Amino acid sequence: MKPKMQPDKAVIFSGAGLSAESGLPTFRDADGLWNNHSWFELASPQAWASQPEVVQAFYNERRHKAWEAQPNAAHLAIAALEATCEVVVITQNVDALHERAGSTQVIHLHGELAWARGTSAEPKRYHLGGESIAMGQCCEDGTQLRPDVVWFGEQTRNMDVARRHLRNAGKVLVVGTSLTVHPAASLLGAVHYMAQKVLIAKERPEAMPPRFHFACGNAATLVPRLIQRWSSALSCI
Ligand code: OAD
Repeated sequence: MKPKMQPDKAVIFSGAGLSAESGLPTFRDADGLWNNHSWFELASPQAWASQPEVVQAFYNERRHKAWEAQPNAAHLAIAALEATCEVVVITQNVDALHERAGSTQVIHLHGELAWARGTSAEPKRYHLGGESIAMGQCCEDGTQLRPDVVWFGEQTRNMDVARRHLRNAGKVLVVGTSLTVHPAASLLGAVHYMAQKVLIAKERPEAMPPRFHFACGNAATLVPRLIQRWSSALSCI
């Protein structure tokens, strides 16, 4: 049976472009991380096996920068929407800017920089905030701590719960993502056909999801405008 759509439930599906105006680089724009670094040498289990110090240092620096960054107007508007309706954030981002802006339901598909974990089959997680992980620093199970993020070739997290939220949301905003990384991008196939659907980015994704309205521009400008419109429509219900 098809889930019933909930008009007063919003799902925000975010990517690196949302945090660009907080000063964090995206991946595939001209100054993006994967245009200047090799993801295979920094974000894969093979890289961790062959040069763990290099990988650790790369993520220590990213964690430090992400912790120094502040939520921008788009993160804040998304958090403020909770005053009007149920909001679920599904993010590919590994920074904690949604949470630090005040969003309370945040689902991370690609892990979180602010956490470390061991490398055994059942590791413990440790909250780091912006702190570094040192080589030789171990989990309780004796294994080396690593960033609790998803590398290429590793399993995307929380897919089922994310899909469930997308299936019954009445409003869906996709923001700041090129939609090139799967299976995360394929989640948008679950969106209810009657939901209001908006995609905000600086460039139109090559694989634009069906029936989405594309708004071209900066997230920190366009997201607060859209949320304002959604909030005033909802408060009239
Ligand atoms: P990308 O770098 O692939 O795409 C960023 C998108 O944000 C592009 O569509 C830009 O047009 C848009 N953009 C840039 N600045 C913006 C701004 N100020 N306002 C609005 N839009 C802006 O980043 P993602 O799609 O998030 O995965 O990348 C997906 C995944 O690829 C990441 O989660 C990461 C990466 O490899 C892993 O690490 C597993």
